[in-house]
Amino acid sequence: MRKQNKKQKFELIEQIRIEEMVAEGKCLARHNNMVIFVGGVAPGDVVDVQVTKKKKSFMEGRAVRFHSYSDLRVEPFCEHFGVCGGCKWQHLSYDTQLHYKQKQVQDNLERIGKVALPAFDPILGNDQDRYYRNKLEFTFSWNGWLTNEQINSGQEFERRALGFHIPGRFDKILNIEHCYLQPDPSNAIRLAVRDYALNLDLPFYDAVKQEGFWRNLVIRTANTGELMVLLLVKWDEPEVITGVLDMLHERFPEITSLQYVVNPKLNDTYHDQEVICYKGSPYIHEEMEGIRFRVGPKSFYQTNSEQAYELYKITREFAGLTGNELVYDLYTGAGTIANFVARQSREVIGIEYVPSAIEDAKINSGINNITNTTFYAGDMKDILSDDLIARHGRPDVVITDPPRAGMHPDVVEKLQQLHADRIVYVSCNPATQARDIELLSDKYDVLRVQPVDMFPQTHHVENIVLLKSKPVNS
Ligand SMILES: C[S@@+](CC[C@H](N)C(=O)[O-])C[C@H]1O[C@@H](n2cnc3c(N)ncnc32)[C@H](O)[C@@H]1O
Repeated sequence: MRKQNKKQKFELIEQIRIEEMVAEGKCLARHNNMVIFVGGVAPGDVVDVQVTKKKKSFMEGRAVRFHSYSDLRVEPFCEHFGVCGGCKWQHLSYDTQLHYKQKQVQDNLERIGKVALPAFDPILGNDQDRYYRNKLEFTFSWNGWLTNEQINSGQEFERRALGFHIPGRFDKILNIEHCYLQPDPSNAIRLAVRDYALNLDLPFYDAVKQEGFWRNLVIRTANTGELMVLLLVKWDEPEVITGVLDMLHERFPEITSLQYVVNPKLNDTYHDQEVICYKGSPYIHEEMEGIRFRVGPKSFYQTNSEQAYELYKITREFAGLTGNELVYDLYTGAGTIANFVARQSREVIGIEYVPSAIEDAKINSGINNITNTTFYAGDMKDILSDDLIARHGRPDVVITDPPRAGMHPDVVEKLQQLHADRIVYVSCNPATQARDIELLSDKYDVLRVQPVDMFPQTHHVENIVLLKSKPVNS
């Protein structure tokens, strides 16, 4: 049952049955009273697992041989599945994915939250389980990743690539032929840019040496039909830049915003770089219920527009707005929720760390003639202060949508003191959400739980919880 593999530090465990799906898309198996977490498998698979990490109470491993496959498996539809890090759950049917996402939320709230829970609303799935993203960022590489099949074929392959990072590898890029994440013409645009670049002598980026001309390509689609393409290169080469952008303009007249950045820095971030608008508008727009959101090349916007609308509608419904409420929208990003609920609220205060997102939030209020929002930029634990509360008043409703790490303990403490009538807690990490809900449980009861799937084919799940303040003397 147990063999020591000479090349490996840890053992190979043979013919082990995968039991259940647990956190972060990994599955759990048991061996000699130890649990092993394994990626890329499905509950019911029987596999040989190469242990890659060993701790006191658990191990991590990689399936190296399949003896039999789970009934839950379906044929993945993407040729890049298993190598690309994008859609790791394609081997499960969408219904199975939804089942495990719901279970993940329930397990976390029960095990970590340890609070009284109502019956859960069934997870809201996506109507579209493919082509749902509005933004993709591709990277050029001078020596793209070769798959085992390619290596074993003995053939020569073009190594210059435009695609996605191999999971965990900053320097390895998988050339993408077709991606099922973003609607047309995303694939055609990427392939046209790659072909154009392949026909020139300028080097594709080398992430190790940090040199090379062609760096990144960002494509943003929007539910208004507007379309942004942003090309990033290392140095200014006017004829080439003009050439590729003119080619895109001619072949894809639907591009409404054609921009580029010359990024001479060693790292890929371009938030501190000048974006030059070559043709069209510097922005595209998303729209919900007639409210337009301006999205610039550096703006944050939820990456699944259709499902973001569903998420926001549920958030607004849980908030129970009648037009008289003072609402605090914590971690407001570009103020999308704040502006979305503003017409049903008396006043909305949005708070967010990133100053440029707050600028977008104010612009979005402005272009929609929304006059009852106020936005603040800064760290939540500093901005959500007694001063701010004295200035604006105690909120009737708090909407909070923190990053994966959840809320800072000082922020949770402040929410306890505030004792708003309702808190709507939107989260992309059910574990930290459950932790925060337990901390809030002295003062708040959980009334509703609604998981929402924003990212089909991945293990990620969003969850909305409605908390209601307990009567003061309870
Ligand atoms: C999950 S996003 C919220 C998205 C937003 N509600 C929306 O729907 O578009 C979390 C946001 O929290 C912000 N953030 C992270 N840490 C923060 C902190 N310590 N203080 C304030 N904002 C923070 C991030 O910049 C990010 O915009």
